[in-house]
Amino acid sequence: MKTRAAVLRKSPVERPYANTRPLSIETVDLDPPGPDELLVRIGAAGLCHSDLSVINGDRPRSVPMALGHEAAGTVEAVGSSVRDIAPGDRVVMSFMPSCGHCPPCAEGRPALCIPGAEANGKGTLLSGERRLRCDAVPVHHHLGVSAFADYAVVSRHSAVRIEADLPMVEAALFGCAVLTGVGAVVNTCQVKPGQSVAVVGLGGVGLAAVLGAIAAGAERVVAVDLSEDKLKLALQLGATDAFLAGDPDVAEKIREATRGGVDHAVEAAGSVRAFELAYRITRRGGLTASAGLAHPSSQIAIPAVSLVAEERTIRGSYMGSCVPSRDIPRFIALHRRGKLPVDRLLSSTGPLEEINEAFDLLDQGRVIRHVITF
Ligand SMILES: NC(=O)c1ccc[n+]([C@@H]2O[C@H](COP(=O)([O-])OP(=O)(O)OC[C@H]3O[C@@H](n4cnc5c(N)ncnc54)[C@H](O)[C@@H]3O)[C@@H](O)[C@H]2O)c1
Ligand SMILES: [Zn+2]
Ligand SMILES: [Zn+2]
Repeated sequence: MKTRAAVLRKSPVERPYANTRPLSIETVDLDPPGPDELLVRIGAAGLCHSDLSVINGDRPRSVPMALGHEAAGTVEAVGSSVRDIAPGDRVVMSFMPSCGHCPPCAEGRPALCIPGAEANGKGTLLSGERRLRCDAVPVHHHLGVSAFADYAVVSRHSAVRIEADLPMVEAALFGCAVLTGVGAVVNTCQVKPGQSVAVVGLGGVGLAAVLGAIAAGAERVVAVDLSEDKLKLALQLGATDAFLAGDPDVAEKIREATRGGVDHAVEAAGSVRAFELAYRITRRGGLTASAGLAHPSSQIAIPAVSLVAEERTIRGSYMGSCVPSRDIPRFIALHRRGKLPVDRLLSSTGPLEEINEAFDLLDQGRVIRHVITF
């Protein structure tokens, strides 16, 4: 069949994207789903910084590539071996397919699936296939999803079935921003009621972490960003303290305000500077989690002795250390009870044709989540 898709043909691309138009809306061929795959009609797809990083070269990927990985849709058709999902079901996409059998999958850590990471690195589905083509040339899938499109073929292991009554624009956010941000707090850090949490970097991921920290019962929730507007929004969402990251004394101010630093600091900016700040504001014995994705050449420098003498923990957080089939329904249930108001992360919606302009807004920090609707 044919579908429209937003295709990136070279990387990096200069800003502003409204002029350079890195994504072209093309009509491409989409093959039918393989045995363990689904054809999904996309309902909504959010713009995440990880898509932006493919465009600006911070995350080098093979082109041509159809972008978009934070999405929800309706299943139109299923492959011959799919038994537990049927046409008409509503699904949220997860951006790391999990095989269920490799060592990390076997120990309950599907975010680290080895075949899943290989497929994502190569721009294929978990099956190793590409289902998209343009003039007979294969188009790579982004993170097994490629959701800036009317239709997508995805692995069954890239989708989680949800109830049908959640609006698509909200459902989409659970696929990346919420899974990553809330998961970083509840799974990676395992924040306990009464503890203190700082979040450095307040985009969709970081603000979801703020919401997660509040839901987890954190006593202090410290929001840190370079932008005043992001701090204001974090305070409106329930953060207890807010600090500008650009202030040269910010680390000392946060350490003083929290009497020696926070129990958990989550970096959600994708920059080494942000990570180093997160480390400096973590208390003795505390945990610093890194969820941002910096350029692959980036190196982190920390005072070595502090790690030992202060018994610090540094932990990476990919996909919020989540099990998507467990955590997406769990986070949606919290949302329904009013404990996780993720709709507050939704800044704007728009059509696929305006996606380049929308990436400028994300790049300039003028939206939290902009969601493409179909
Ligand atoms: N670990 C994962 O599984 C995962 C999943 C999704 C996104 N990510 C990554 O997480 C990061 C955040 O994604 P997003 O979509 O929320 O991005 P975003 O662009 O919406 O937000 C990033 C925020 O970080 C702030 N920031 C930048 N440098 C900073 C600094 N030095 N100190 C403090 N704040 C700073 C920006 O002002 C902005 O508000 C990106 O690097 C993205 O690639 C990781
Ligand atoms: Zn993402
Ligand atoms: Zn696996």
